[in-house]
Amino acid sequence: MPSPASRSPPLLLLVPFLLLLLFSAASAWKKDEFRNCNQTPFCKRARGRKAHSVPSLSTADISISDGAVVARLLPSQPLRQATDGDDPESDTVPPRPLLLRISVYQGGVLRLHIDEDASAPRRRFQVPDVLLPDLDDRRLWLSRLSSPAAGSSSFYLAEGFEAVLVHDPFQIQVRRKGSGEPVLSFNSHGLFDFEQLRAKKNDDEDWEERFRGHTDTRPHGPQSISFDISFHGADFVYGIPEHASTSLALRPTSGPGVEFSEPYRLFNLDVFEYLDDSPFGLYGSIPFMLSHGARSSSGFFWLNAAEMQIDVLGPGWDDPAAPAKDRIDTVWMSEAGVVDAFFFVGHEPKDVLRQYTGITGTPAMPQEFAVAYHQCRWNYRDEEDVAAVDAGFDEHDIPYDVLWLDIEHTDGKRYFTWDRVLFPNPQEMQGKLAAKGRHMVTIVDPHIKRDDSFYIHKEASERGYYVKDASGKDFDGWCWPGSSSYLDVLNPEIREWWAEKFSFENYVGSTPSLYIWNDMNEPSVFNGPEISMPRDAIHFGDVEHRELHNAYGYYFHMATSNGLLKRGNGKDRPFVLSRAFFAGSQRYGAVWTGDNTADWDHLRASVPMILTLGLTGMTFSGADVGGFFGNPEPELLVRWYQLGAYYPFFRAHAHQDTKRREPWLFGERNTALIREAVHVRYSLLPYYYTLFREASVSGIPVMRPLWLEFPADKETYNNGEAFMVGPSLLVQGIYEERQKSVSVYLPAGQSWYNLRNGVSYAGGVSHKLEVSEDSIPTFQRAGTIIPRKDRFRRSSTQMVNDPYTLVIALNGSFAAEGELYVDDGKTYDFEQGAYIHRRFIFADLKLTSVNIHPANLGGKFPSDCVIERIVLLGLPSGAKKAVIEPGNREANVELGPLTLRGGSSPDAITVRKPNVHIADDWTLRIL
Ligand SMILES: *[C@@H]1O[C@H](CO)[C@@H](O)[C@H](O)[C@H]1NC(C)=O
Repeated sequence: MPSPASRSPPLLLLVPFLLLLLFSAASAWKKDEFRNCNQTPFCKRARGRKAHSVPSLSTADISISDGAVVARLLPSQPLRQATDGDDPESDTVPPRPLLLRISVYQGGVLRLHIDEDASAPRRRFQVPDVLLPDLDDRRLWLSRLSSPAAGSSSFYLAEGFEAVLVHDPFQIQVRRKGSGEPVLSFNSHGLFDFEQLRAKKNDDEDWEERFRGHTDTRPHGPQSISFDISFHGADFVYGIPEHASTSLALRPTSGPGVEFSEPYRLFNLDVFEYLDDSPFGLYGSIPFMLSHGARSSSGFFWLNAAEMQIDVLGPGWDDPAAPAKDRIDTVWMSEAGVVDAFFFVGHEPKDVLRQYTGITGTPAMPQEFAVAYHQCRWNYRDEEDVAAVDAGFDEHDIPYDVLWLDIEHTDGKRYFTWDRVLFPNPQEMQGKLAAKGRHMVTIVDPHIKRDDSFYIHKEASERGYYVKDASGKDFDGWCWPGSSSYLDVLNPEIREWWAEKFSFENYVGSTPSLYIWNDMNEPSVFNGPEISMPRDAIHFGDVEHRELHNAYGYYFHMATSNGLLKRGNGKDRPFVLSRAFFAGSQRYGAVWTGDNTADWDHLRASVPMILTLGLTGMTFSGADVGGFFGNPEPELLVRWYQLGAYYPFFRAHAHQDTKRREPWLFGERNTALIREAVHVRYSLLPYYYTLFREASVSGIPVMRPLWLEFPADKETYNNGEAFMVGPSLLVQGIYEERQKSVSVYLPAGQSWYNLRNGVSYAGGVSHKLEVSEDSIPTFQRAGTIIPRKDRFRRSSTQMVNDPYTLVIALNGSFAAEGELYVDDGKTYDFEQGAYIHRRFIFADLKLTSVNIHPANLGGKFPSDCVIERIVLLGLPSGAKKAVIEPGNREANVELGPLTLRGGSSPDAITVRKPNVHIADDWTLRIL
C-alpha cells in the first residue's frame, strides 16, 4: 500500500493533500518530499568533519566493576573553540564526563555503552525489548585488565580475540590475540562526537528545525552522536537495510568518485514509487553491518532507533594520494539516543550471523502454510470475487495457500470491521477457503479512524492510548480513514490491550484460519513531515518520537503477533506480515520490500534486498511478485514468478489501479509457465521448511548470498544476481527481457547439477548458458541431498501425508548429505520435541537415514509418510536394484527422469518405491 499520491481522497476533505496529489501526478519518486543530509543539521555537521578534527576524549578512572570495564570520558585537552566556523550548535560550555561501560558476552560479542551521567537534564532513550531477555545470563565476568603497552588496557573477548581500550585519545580496538591484527575499531579516525543535553545558551538560541512547512520544536535541543567504525581485512561490507539496490555489497557514499553522494539513511518511511538503486531509507531499519573478506568476517550493531545516517567511505576518502588500505571505514551518525553498540568477531561469516541473532533473536518458526504461495491484490472486491479467484486456482491446477484482503474490505478503513455490503458473511467465506486447507489474511494498520462511533477509537481515546503531539493533545494525522490517531505501542499496557482486539470475540467475523498484515506502520502519516509522524510527538515515558521512530513499526508488529498468539491460547504460531521493521522484528513475523514497481530493474533489486534482510536476521522476507505499481508484461510476470518461487516469502500483489493479473489471465502458455514456477516451490516445501527450522535455531537465513556458503571464493563476494537457497541450491535470476543466454558463476570446490536436465557443471568458473522461457537456471551442489514432495494438491496443508522424493547429487567421492525436518506445521509442540529430524547420508553406495532429534528432549512426532522416489545424480551407470534394511526388501532402479513431469535427464538414476518411512532408521544399498 503506497503513500497518498497514488489515489484520490474525497476532494473536500484535505486541501494540502490535494496539492500534494497535483504535484506528484507526473512522476515517481518525489525527492523533495524527503530530507537529504544537507537538510538534516546533525547529518550535515557530522559529515562535514575531517578525521581527528573533533576535540578528542580520553579515558579516566578505568576499572572493573560488576564484571565489566567502566571508565569516564573527559576532554583530552582544554576545549578549543569549535573548528567548524558555521557550526551554530557547537558547545562552548565544558562537557560533563561521559560514562563508558564495556561488557563481553559468550561467543565473541563486545558491547560498548556510552551515556551521559546522572546530572544530565534528561534521560536519553534506550530502546527496550529488542535484546533477548536472557542476554545478561550470557555475560562473561571480566576480572582482569592488562596493560600491554603504556596508555592502553586490554581484556579477553573470545578464544583468539582480545579488546584494547586506548586511553588518550579514546579508542577501542578488537584484534586477534598473538598477531595483534586488528578486526574492528571504534574512533580510530577521531570522529566520535556526543552532543550532551544542555540548557539553551541564551533565550534567543533557536532549536527549531523547519522542513517543507513542518516545524520540529526540538524542545531538548541538539543531542546527536557520531563515530567512525573500521572493518579491517574486509573486502566488502553488507547490511543496514532497508535500501533499494542492485548491488549486494554496500557501495561507498563518500570519497573520490563515488556513485552515491548521500549517506545510507535509516529512517522508516512510506516512500511512493521508490527507486531501484538509492541509499535513501525505506520502510524498515536494521543498524547492523557486516563485513567479509578473505581474511576476516566481522559485524557491528548499534541499538538506536532514532534517525541514522551511515557513510561508507571509499578508498582515498581522507587522503586521495594514500595507497589502498586493507580495511573499510564507515561513519555512523544518529540524531539522538545513546551509544549501545555491539561488535562481533567471527572466524566465518556464519559465526557473525549467529552472534547477531544471539542477541536480537533468531527468526520465529513459521507455520508451514505461510511458507507456501500467497495471492494478494488491492483489492479483492467482494465475496464473489474471492470465490472466483479461489476457484480459478483450482480450475488451472495452481496451488495456493493464502488469499489476502487489503484495506477495502473494511467498513470505511476501520480495521477489525467488514464492509457489510461487500463482505456480508466473512466467517462463511473463510470457512470455504479453510475447507480446501487455505487461509485468509486481512490488513490491520496502526492508524485509527477518529470516529466516536468506532469502538477502537472510543476506547483508545478514553484510555489515553494515543501518541500525543508536542502540545500534549492526541496526535491527529491524515491516513487512509481520514483524520486518524496512532496507538502508542511503546507502552506495554497498550500493546496488551491491542493484542486482545484479535480475540475471536473481539474481532467479529474472524476465524482460526485468519491471519494479519500490518501495513503503514513506519508510521505513514500523509500530511506529516516526510509522510510520517512529527519528531516532537510524545510517547509513553516522555519519549520523543525522534528517539523511537525506527522502532515504532516493530512494537506494532510485536503487539499484533502477540494478539494472534493469545487468541489461540498460545497454541498456534502467529503469522503477521509487516512493512516496517527494526532489529528483532524477525521474532514476530515476515516482512516484504514494500511498494515496488513492475519493471525489470525492480526484479533485479529484489535479490540484493532480500539477501540483505536475511543477513540482518529477517530471513522471512520477499518482494511483491509482479511488482506493485504498474502492469508487468507477461514475460516479466513469468520471470518474476520463476524468481519469486525461491523467495523465502512468496506473495503476488498489485496496486488497485493495475489490471487484474491472476496467473491464468495471460494465455495458456503463460499460465503453464506460472503453474510450473509455483509447482517448483510446492515441491521444495519440505526443503524450505527444513531451512526455516535451521534459521530459527541458528539465525542462518534461508536465502543466502553465495559467499555465506563459499566464504573463501572471492568471485562470490559481490554477486547479487544469484543466491543460495540453503546450502544445496543455487538460483540465478533472469533480469532482462528476451534474454537468450546468461553467464552463471558456480562457486569453486564442487561441481553443480542443472536441475532441469541433470547435466553437471564444474565449479569455480562462469558458464555461459542458454536461457529458455520455461525456467531460470537452478543448480544443486554436488554432495547434497534435497527432500521434495512432487504431488500437487490445492494447498500445502493437503500435502501433509504425501510421500517424499529425495534428490541426491553425488560429489567426486560419490557421497552426499542432507536433512529433513518435519513437525505438525502449526503449533509449538515441536518445542517439546514433537518433530522428526533426519540426516540422510550417502556414501559407499549406501543411503542411511540417521536420527538427529536429540534423545534427551523426548517427544515424538508420528508420521506415516514414506519416501516414494530417490533420484541419484552422478552415479556411474550399472545400478541394478536397491536393497533396503531392515527387512531385506528390494526396490527397482531405472534411468531418470529428474521430475515427475518428465524432462530429460540421461544421467539420473531413480530408485522407485523404496517406501521407507521418514520417521524410521533404515539403509538402502545400491547394487
Ligand atoms: C563429498 O560429500 C561428502 C558429504 O557431504 C563429504 O564428506 C566429502 O568430503 C565430499 N567429497 C568431496 C570430494 O567433495
